[in-house]
Parts: sequence; structure tokens; C-alpha cells
Amino acid sequence: METISVSKLILLSIFLGFLQLINSARIGYDNKGITINGQRKLLISGSIHYPRSTPDMWEDLIKKAKHGGLDVIDTYVFWNGHEPSPGKYHFEGRYDLVRFIKTIHRAGLYVNLRIGPYVCAEWNFGGFPVWLKYVPGISFRTDNEPFKRAMQGFTEKIVDMMKKENLFASQGGPIIMSQIENEYGSEEKEFGAAGKAYVDWAASMANGLKTGVPWLMCKQDDAPDPLINTCNGFYCDYFKPNKPNKPKMWTEAWSGWFTEFGGPVHERPVEDLAFAVARFIQTGGSYINYYMYHGGTNFGRTAGGPFITTSYDYDAPIDEYGLIRQPKYGHLKDLHRALKLSERALLSSEPEITSLGTYHQAFVFKGQGTCAAFLSNFHFTSSARVKFNNEHYDLPAWSISILPDCKHVVFNTAKVGVQTSHTQMIPANARLLSWKMYDEDLSSLEESPTMTAPGLLEQINVTRDSSDYLWYMTSVHVSPSDLHGAPSLMVESAGPALHVFVNGKFAGSAFGTREDRRLTFKGPVNLQSGMNRITLLSVAVGLPNVGPHYEIWKTGVLGPVVLNGLSSGKRDLTWQKWSYQVGLKGENMQLTSPNGASSNEWIDASLAAQKTQPLTWYKANFDAPGGVEPLAVDMKSMGKGEIWINGRSIGRYWITYAKGDCKPCSYAGTYRQGNCQSGCNNPTQRWYHVPRAWLKPTQNLMVVFEELGGDASKISLVKRSVSRVCADAFEHHPMVQNWRVDSNGDQQIMHRAKVHLQCGPGQSISSIQFASFGTPLGTCGSFLMGTCHSENSLDIVEKLCVGQRRCSVPITNSNFGGDPCRNVLKRLTVEAICS
Ligand code: GAL
Repeated sequence: METISVSKLILLSIFLGFLQLINSARIGYDNKGITINGQRKLLISGSIHYPRSTPDMWEDLIKKAKHGGLDVIDTYVFWNGHEPSPGKYHFEGRYDLVRFIKTIHRAGLYVNLRIGPYVCAEWNFGGFPVWLKYVPGISFRTDNEPFKRAMQGFTEKIVDMMKKENLFASQGGPIIMSQIENEYGSEEKEFGAAGKAYVDWAASMANGLKTGVPWLMCKQDDAPDPLINTCNGFYCDYFKPNKPNKPKMWTEAWSGWFTEFGGPVHERPVEDLAFAVARFIQTGGSYINYYMYHGGTNFGRTAGGPFITTSYDYDAPIDEYGLIRQPKYGHLKDLHRALKLSERALLSSEPEITSLGTYHQAFVFKGQGTCAAFLSNFHFTSSARVKFNNEHYDLPAWSISILPDCKHVVFNTAKVGVQTSHTQMIPANARLLSWKMYDEDLSSLEESPTMTAPGLLEQINVTRDSSDYLWYMTSVHVSPSDLHGAPSLMVESAGPALHVFVNGKFAGSAFGTREDRRLTFKGPVNLQSGMNRITLLSVAVGLPNVGPHYEIWKTGVLGPVVLNGLSSGKRDLTWQKWSYQVGLKGENMQLTSPNGASSNEWIDASLAAQKTQPLTWYKANFDAPGGVEPLAVDMKSMGKGEIWINGRSIGRYWITYAKGDCKPCSYAGTYRQGNCQSGCNNPTQRWYHVPRAWLKPTQNLMVVFEELGGDASKISLVKRSVSRVCADAFEHHPMVQNWRVDSNGDQQIMHRAKVHLQCGPGQSISSIQFASFGTPLGTCGSFLMGTCHSENSLDIVEKLCVGQRRCSVPITNSNFGGDPCRNVLKRLTVEAICS
């Protein structure tokens, strides 16, 4: 009996090994691209960071990415999430890396695993665990033994885990490449010879792990062979790999930019992003990764900084909440399709470049009996009519047309044929019930300090980042004669935020800025004769994630701390005895967790109506709103703090108003972060994502800690939904969707421009606000009829669309019962309401 089962087992393992062998893929590269089983590939990739969404969202995000034309999902690996204390690993929930990669595999996509382990990524401490800083003798990211030992240990841990699950392509898995380090090139210069030695070590350490797939180093001109050096940036067409046998790869095509509290929201027009990608491909690039394709949310205290917002939306093609952002998503999807139609030609030859005018060029790829051309207009403002192969082509300013057969334009980067969607936050009709509050009172703080010391201590050295909050407490004796002046307190802090209390009363706050974290508090104080208590609450808002030796940058009150305006002169408190308390009382009592929150120290919030005092905890219950729309909490009435739902932190909030330079933004011209700002003079972030997966049907607990003071009764839940969609396209709009590649690999054209409309999940088109086939004017939200208009427009569109979740309307005379105006180029413009 036993022998049978053993032999069965042996057979099974031989069978599994065989399966793996037939599924395993040989990944290599040459000068033109990554090769899979010897075949060159044009690969379109997008970054989705697994801890920035919840596992229940992953499958949908990945499906949307696939549907958007992606071949690869790129993610960093977040060391501080996986090893919160030395040797204690965490790979559950949002940190279930294996599940994330398997989800990608199931969808049929590949993975670029950017292990780092330094990741930058606007992530707390750049992904390093804070304990790493306290390893004796350590110096980060240089030729330092303790650091290299730790980095190798974690890298091996991840590689072994992937191997054990057969996740490398060489084992039949989806991982086709990996990254070691991240943008070390500029740092290396500062480290001199030690920097160079570290790069060489990192490359050979990675190679030694024998993953069977190529390793990349981004922004690393001297990446040692066989590692591939790659480009990150808003444009990368100028980039050349460091050896002629390496492919030209773009690992971070920034699809937008991140947001910082106090700053505006950055957008990047899709016409420019598409132009940048087409430029990269026409100059021989064959791998592009959108950073980010879905940005997501910095839950808990994972945001880096300081001052990185909880939202990491990034203006990405899939928004923070997992909804498709249109037209960004759809226009890039069309681009990807146009690129894939040209793939064979692109990968089999170098481009022949011909000038078509001062600002105009043709890039032609010919090979294997195919021909693909990219016609480019680099002028910022003027469109052009160029002649190519004896035909005329119109090119809008700052745009590229793609001709997969060197004849027909299937896509132009500046002509957006897909719909624009408008989303809005609508009341979720979920009442937050029975508000209670708890006062984070200061009276007992000094009774059991974490420690006392002469002078002022650096904050992270004391907290080890176990909390954002560190109390600094001291006392000062003032004689009656001292009080004749006007006493004031001056506190200098390395930042980033500070609240000051004197004798238990709030005396004011001070904040660093995004440019300079340091801050100075100066303010009058109410002193009494005798002993006075000075209590400072220093607040971290995300640890730095980038910059030379950012790990040694300081946080917290470093002094001087001086009392001015006493009759006897000034009193320097810097070097006297200070006591310290790590974290808030409410945190230590675990008020944030459902069990702790039921403590009877909470009082009815109505008792304290309108008491918008600082340092207050609030809690309320709510039932999960119905429907499928993503949810958020509107914090406009509040100040600054953190929010927990059923014991899990959804992140820091801060209703600080955006200072910026918001002006109309044109897609044309070289994009820089700062070009297309929005949201000036509004809260940088008003809404905070509440993952549906964290809710129960009833009796959910929301806990809020408010530092400054706010009106908790006005906190509300909202749903994110698509309110209206607009589409507008010309009758002869190049429609890449209408192209097919037949079994011989030849393209076939099917000309028929259409307008496609689609509402959000769970919605349908409830009415058509505007429809005109003719020469309509205006933009989405304010369309007008032009001189030419088909009377049937509204009827036809209503018939095809109302009541549907999605619809397509052909832009042809016959569809509208005849030509409303002969010899005029017509468009179809539609605005639909979703509900
Ligand atoms: C890059 C870095 C990324 C991210 C990005 C900005 O330089 O590699 O991790 O920080 O900048 O969002």
C-alpha cells in the first residue's frame, strides 16, 4: 500500500516537473527587445503596487490592465511591509505578494518584479524598515557590510519565495524580469568609489541568485553586464542603453505625478503621454511601463514624505478607486493597439528617419515583408500637412500618427476618439450614528513618561516610527516679577509638524513646508507664577523616501526652545531635563480597534456639541452603503489626523489648502510636473478611500483622531460614481479598433468611425443631454449646435443608448437618415447622463 502511494507520488512529481518544463519560458534580450523563447517582444507594462489596493480589487485592476492593452504588470516589493521587525515576516492581506503575482499569472500577463529593496515610490522611508537604521555600523545604499548583508538577505528571501512557488518564467511562472536597486545613478556620484563598488556588488549579488530572467537597473548608466540599464522620466526617446546588445527600455513613463499635502493635484494630458510613448517607440524602444497604471492609496502610515498624501492617484489610467479614467485609459488602449499592429516591423529593423519639414519627421520600419511608419510633428503650436510616400497627411501640433502599413493612419496621439468621463462624489446615504468623543487629555502625560533625558532627542530615535506622535515635556519655574513682560515661546524643530501646549492649554501649531520640513513656532504664552508645564507634540507626516542619505535626516524638536519676554530676560530650555512619551494615550489604549473603542471613557458627542477642540478622538457607527460604487469619507469639516475603519487605518488626513499655479493646460509642449496643476485653493485631499472589503453589512466602526479641531458631525460617506460621459469624433476619425490582423499577419482595415459610450459599474445611461451629428461646438458640459445639425441626432442616439450600460453609435450619414450638409466634414458629439 505504502509503496504504491510513494510511486504515485514520484509519478506525480515527474508529471508536475514535466508540466513546468513545457510551460517554462526562456527569457533573454538582444538590441531590439526582450525575447521570450527566442522571439522579440514589444511589451507594454503598467505599475500597480499591491499594498496600495486591497486583495479583492486586484483581479479587477489586472483585468482592466489587460483590457487596456498591457502585457506586463510592474510592482516594487515593499520591504518594510514584509519585515516590520527583524526576522518577523508578513505576507498576508495587502502584502500577499504571491497571491498578487498568481492573480497576474491567471490573467495571462507577465510581471516585472522590482525588488529594490530600495524603492523610493513616495513610500515611508523609501521601503526600508526603520529598524534597519539601527543595525550597528550601517550605512544605507553603499559599500557597507551590514547594509549589504541585510539587502542580500531580503532579496534572497523574496527570490527564494518566488522560486518555491515556481513564479519565475524560467519555471513556468509570469516573472520575466526583476530589478535590483532603484535610480542609484545620481547617488553613486556622491558616494564615489564606494558607490561604484556597491553597484558592482549589487549586480553580481543579483546575478548570483540565478532566477533565469534578466535583471534591470533603472537610471544606472554604468549597470554592469548582463544587467540592462533602463530609463525613467516624462520622456525617454533620447535614451540609449550602455551596450549595443541591450534593448531600449523605459521602466517609468510617468503617467502623472504624486500629490503632497499643501500642494495641487498634478495631471498629465493623455495626448502628451501618448506622444511621449510613440516618440520612444519610433526611436527603437520596445518596453514601456506606465508609472503608475493604477496608483491607489497610501493606507495607514505607508505614505512617504514628509507630506505625501494618502491618495496616490497619480492621474493614472485607472484611478485611485479602481475606476477607469477616461479618456486616459481608452486613448492609451488605442495607442497600444496601433503599436501592436506595427510590432513585426518595429522589432525587425532600425528606423529610417527622413525629414518632412523643419519640425516634421518620418520614422519608417521595414522588415519581414512589413512596413510601419510614424509621422511626427514636434512643433508646440502649429499643425502641419506633410507629404509621405506621395500621400498627404495632417498632423496636429505635438503629435505622431501611426501607420502600421505605411499607408493608413490608425492612430494620432493628439486625436482622442474615446469618451471623457466625469466622476463625482455623491452622498452615500449612510448615516454616521451615535458619535462619541474622547479627549486626549494631557493631565496624566507626565506620570509615566517613556523616558527622560537632558536636552532634546531626535524623534525617530525615540519612537522608531511606532507612532507619528512624540510628546516632549518639561517644566519651568517663573517668579511673579518675571510676568510683568509679555512672555512668548520659541521652538525650533526639524519638523514636520508641531502642536504646543502650555499648562495643558493649546498655544498653537507650526508646520514645515514641502520645500523645507523645518519649522519655527513663535507665540505668546500664558504663564503663571510658579511651575509651568511646556508640552510639545511633534508629529511625523511620513518619513523621507528620497535624497542623499535621507535615512539620517532628522525629525522632531531639536531646539533651541526659548522663553522670551520674561522680565528677567530670556530662558533657554533646550538643555534642561525633558521627558518623553511615545504615541497618544488613545493609541496606547487601542481606541482605534473595535475592542478598545468600546471602552466606557468615550462620551456622547452631543454633550460636547460644537466643541471643536484639538486632540480629540471621535467614533461613530454606520451600515455599509448599498451598491457597488467605491466609497470614500468626506473630511472637509475636519483639520488633521488619521482615520480607522473597523480597526484598520485608511490613512492620514489633512485638510490643508493647495497652493499652486493652476492655469489652463495645453497638452502640447514639453511636459514637466507643475505644468498641469489643478485644485488650487481647495483642500489638497478632501476624500479618503474606504475599501468596501473592510466593511461589514452593519455596525461598522469609524474612529477619527483629530489634532487641530473640526466638526465631526459633518463627516460623511460618499460614493464615487460616473456622472456623465461625453464623446465626440469626426466621421473619418482613425479608428484603430476597426483594424484586424489576419492569419497571414497582414492588417485589414474596416473603416467605420463610431462613438462609444459607457457608464460606471452598476450604472446605465439614463438620458442623453446633447447629441449632434453635424458641426457642433463647445466642450463636454457645454456643447452647442453648430450651423450643420442632423435633426435625427437625439432620437437616434437615445434609441441606441438610453437604458444601456454601454452603446456604440456609427458616425455615418446613413445612420442619421442622410447627409445633413454635403461636402462638410461632420462630427458626432454626445453627452450622456449616467445613473
Ligand atoms: C522615480 C522613482 C519612483 C517614484 C517616482 C516619482 O524617480 O523611481 O519610485 O518615486 O520617481 O513618483
